[in-house]
Amino acid sequence: MLVASGLVKHYGGVTALVGVGITLAAGEVHALVGENGAGKSTLVKIISGVVRPEGGTIELDGVPVRFADARQAAGQGVAIVSQELMTYDDLTVLENLFPYGAPRRGGLVSTREMRRRAQPVLDELGLDPPPHVRTGELPLADRQLLEICRALLQEPRVLILDEPTSALPRDAAARLAEVTRGLARRGLAVLYISHFLEEVMRVATRVTVLRDGRTVLDGVPTADVGLDSLVTAMLGQPARDTAPPPAVPRRPGGTAVALTGVTVPGRLRSVSLDAAAGEIVGLAGLQGAGHLAVLDAVCGRARPSAGTVRLPDGRSPRSARHAVTEGVAYISGDRKGRGLMLDKPLWENITAVSWLGQGRGGPMPRRSRLVERSRGHLERLRIRGDVHARAGDLSGGNQQKAVLAKWLDAAPAVLALDDPTRGVDVGARTELHDLVRELAASGRAVLIASTDLAELVELCHRVLVFQHGRVVDTLAGDRLTEAELSLSMNAGFADSPH
Ligand SMILES: Nc1ncnc2c1ncn2[C@@H]1O[C@H](COP(=O)(O)OP(=O)(O)OP(=O)(O)O)[C@@H](O)[C@H]1O
Ligand SMILES: [Mg+2]
Repeated sequence: MLVASGLVKHYGGVTALVGVGITLAAGEVHALVGENGAGKSTLVKIISGVVRPEGGTIELDGVPVRFADARQAAGQGVAIVSQELMTYDDLTVLENLFPYGAPRRGGLVSTREMRRRAQPVLDELGLDPPPHVRTGELPLADRQLLEICRALLQEPRVLILDEPTSALPRDAAARLAEVTRGLARRGLAVLYISHFLEEVMRVATRVTVLRDGRTVLDGVPTADVGLDSLVTAMLGQPARDTAPPPAVPRRPGGTAVALTGVTVPGRLRSVSLDAAAGEIVGLAGLQGAGHLAVLDAVCGRARPSAGTVRLPDGRSPRSARHAVTEGVAYISGDRKGRGLMLDKPLWENITAVSWLGQGRGGPMPRRSRLVERSRGHLERLRIRGDVHARAGDLSGGNQQKAVLAKWLDAAPAVLALDDPTRGVDVGARTELHDLVRELAASGRAVLIASTDLAELVELCHRVLVFQHGRVVDTLAGDRLTEAELSLSMNAGFADSPH
């Protein structure tokens, strides 16, 4: 149905694609995978008219096409849900769904008509947002699903999903996988980019792998590729085994973070927990279970109405800003929301916290030193980009790595992590995990929430499971498995009225 070939794209001195092609057939889910910065988003932006290539061709049903912009591509049946969220936060949900002109009646925008058309698609995705709410107020996962709705409302023949599940909790991701398969059965060609390799291999029938802007596997049936060979193709080398977390020191350096009887209205009910220096403590739960409120309380972003939060020096975080100066690093997978100064060079982003937060009035370090230090982080985390490049020009996954680098540069005493490896490739995930272990081993306390249960099992010394704002279970040792975690998070919900 769609055949792209010989696509070439440079950004300044950066070669994003050199002669890459892809073939999409009606009725298939085609996976596109590769390391952060491999060129995946560039390829799909070209196919969907967002970016213009310097060379190469695209054919739709055998007819050469050249899209001037995304709207033109949409008109020809090619719709994209991009990696960056593109919702208009000040518009309502319904307004967001009709970007190229809302349906009108008698010259007026018809809300009723919008709802009539949107409802079946909203239902299909299991989305039920209040119609008049501003989109910016919705949770990230809902905004992501909303974008998918918007694409489907264009009734595309080719649907491109660039990391659609990187913001979604597990159940929503599973639902989306189901929907995706259904769309293919209806005859759409779906191109699906994801770093969740198991997920994507389950959903897709063929896979294309990019590395450094070149094709290394070209539309191979997923049944013929094992996960190991896929990873090897992506990285150009086999993945390393991950080390188990180092033992918590026998005499840990004392309690680093402690919550005592903490209540956050509507989120946490009299919760007490602590993490020792050197310890990696997991926080698990379904959406709204309260585990994320613990991170917010530690980071000074949620004010307890009762109880106390103590940081390593015994002080309580008074505000988000105060928590940073007390050495708390908060890293979230929602990198768009609270991560980077997109217009500033990478080195400034990476060194911003450490000299603002910890310089405490001291002289600003020499610029060349900051640049040099940033360069070290880039190498360590294998960030693809120049220290002087705008942060906004990095690929999505490399931006996430840059957020991490920024906090690592600040040498925090406490790490509060929320889905830190969302959208990060397998190689970098291992690298990040090693870093977290190293930081813990050097005396930092780590609190981590993750929708990726394997991540919790691999990293944590123990995991606290939350339901309804309380800790209901603690898993460690032999009980710390994905199956036990999932069971514990969901226990009691099967027979509840919903
Ligand atoms: N607007 C831009 N300006 C400059 N460089 C860019 C721009 N967009 C992408 N690049 C560069 O092109 C290369 C490919 O980026 P691309 O976004 O296609 O990667 P990706 O495979 O989608 O990675 P990720 O998994 O991190 O999303 C990267 O080196 C990136 O830094
Ligand atoms: Mg990308």
